[in-house]
Order: sequence, then structure tokens, then C-alpha cells
Amino acid sequence: MARRRQIYEGKAKILYEGPEPGTLIQYFKDDATAFNAQKRGTINGKGVLNNRISEHVFTLLGHIGVPTHFIRRLNMREQLVRQVEIVPIEVVVRNVAAGSISQRLGIEEGTPLPRTLIEYYYKDDALGDPLISEEHIACFNWCSQDELNDMQDLAIRVNDFLCGMFAGVGIRLVDFKMEFGRLWDGDWSRIILADEISPDGCRLWDMATNEKLDKDRFRRDLGGEVEAYQEVARRLGLLPEDGNNAVLDLESHRKKKGS
Ligand code: TMP
Ligand code: ASP
Repeated sequence: MARRRQIYEGKAKILYEGPEPGTLIQYFKDDATAFNAQKRGTINGKGVLNNRISEHVFTLLGHIGVPTHFIRRLNMREQLVRQVEIVPIEVVVRNVAAGSISQRLGIEEGTPLPRTLIEYYYKDDALGDPLISEEHIACFNWCSQDELNDMQDLAIRVNDFLCGMFAGVGIRLVDFKMEFGRLWDGDWSRIILADEISPDGCRLWDMATNEKLDKDRFRRDLGGEVEAYQEVARRLGLLPEDGNNAVLDLESHRKKKGS
């Protein structure tokens, strides 16, 4: 039996060659990193939860007409996705000040922003993903103006949808990060949403208590990472109300059985 071919290993995911041309298998790890991988750890069960949460989000986005790379979830940790050429830009949407914008501009965390803000970071680990402007994107031709327009439009639509989805379950979407890719068809390509949307790349605060339900629990040594990710999944209806550990228990049961 041949071993499947690994295409790429990132900090939280691995990409394998998919079963058909133009597809990949996206595997979600439990590894967590922060501050450009200066801080490393493991959040047990994170990969299972992020696979499930991202499946849910991408499926719903598909229903409102946002093109995404998601095809279907394959198992607890893997999903089948379309192969794209990742645009080397991390698109961050902010509704409320937190994290780097609070530090950079001295805005108290939790301050609602006067308008939704879109920021761009150049995807380069060696440089620590620096903040860039549209001018830099145009100057270095990291994507075309049409592609940037598409990414901006999609970012606003995704943000509007996610703000409503999370508000419906008592969660404030403070900010989040997206990655886009080019889906090629012959000589033509179009921009689609890629990567993942999960508590790893979002700030999610409980609306009643402001409790953090995202990776800031790991970044800031707050503890309770798994419980926070489980709480997000539970509120989205992805875990049974009772028996919070059902998904993770199921995975360890399968592993023991060797299936
Ligand atoms: P920041 O406040 O650190 O710039 O992060 C803004 C949002 O982007 C936050 O929800 C976390 C997410 N993010 C990532 O997903 N990956 C990253 O490498 C960074 C720096 C932020
Ligand atoms: N994922 C990023 C890293 O370790 C940072 C973060 O999410 O805070 O590089």
C-alpha cells in the first residue's frame, strides 16, 4: 500500500494529496502556536473541534453564495478541499479593538471600532507576517486589483454573516483572519475562501461575560482552551448539550478500535 503524499505542513494543519486531481485533504492538528511560533503547545482535541467548526462555517457560507474551498468533511480530523493557489495575504477583519491593533494604536481592548476595519498582513513567517497596505500589495503584485476587490467584498460578506451567526448564540465576533486562494480553470482563476475559520483565527467573546472563547486563552496563558473551543462548538449545535466530550470520546474510542 502506498503512503499518501504530503503536500505541505503548516503550524496547525497538514495538506495531503487528495483522491482526485484538484483536491487536497486538510488534516487538523492539535498543535498550537502563538507569536510567530515562539510559543508552542498542544491543545488536546483542538483539531477535531476546529475541523467540525470550520466545516460548519464554510458550509453555511456556501449556502449564502460565498465560494469556498470546502468540499466535505471526511472524518474527525480531515476534510476534502479544492486545491488553490494561496494568495500570500492574511486578511483580518476587526469589529472591536483587541490584540495587535490595541497595542499598536493604544486603543483599549473591547472598544467598538467606529467602522469595520480590514487589514492585510503579508504571509511570511520569517518576517513575522508584517502589516501591509493596499499600496504594498499593488507595488509587489501579491494579487491584482480585481482580486483584492473580490477579497474585500467577500471579507465584508463573511464578517456580516459570522457576526449574526455568533450573535445568535451569545458570542461577539471581535476579529478574525481569513485566507483566500486562486481556483484555476485553464488560463482563468477566481478568488475563493480557503484555509479555515475556527477559534484559532478568531476572537470570540461571550456577550454576557466577555469571557474569551478562542486562542487568546492559549496566547495569554489563561487556561481552559479545550473547554472554550468546546463551548463554541456546543453553542453552534455541533456537540450534544450534555456530554461535552462526546466528539473527543468518539475519537479515542475509534483509535482504540484501530478504525
Ligand atoms: P492580531 O490582533 O494579533 O493582529 O490578530 C487579529 C486576528 O487574526 C485574531 O483573531 C487572530 C488572528 N490571527 C491569526 O489567525 N493568525 C495570526 O498569525 C495572527 C497574528 C492573528
Ligand atoms: N498562528 C500564529 C503563529 O504562531 C500566531 C497567532 O495565532 O497568534 O505564528
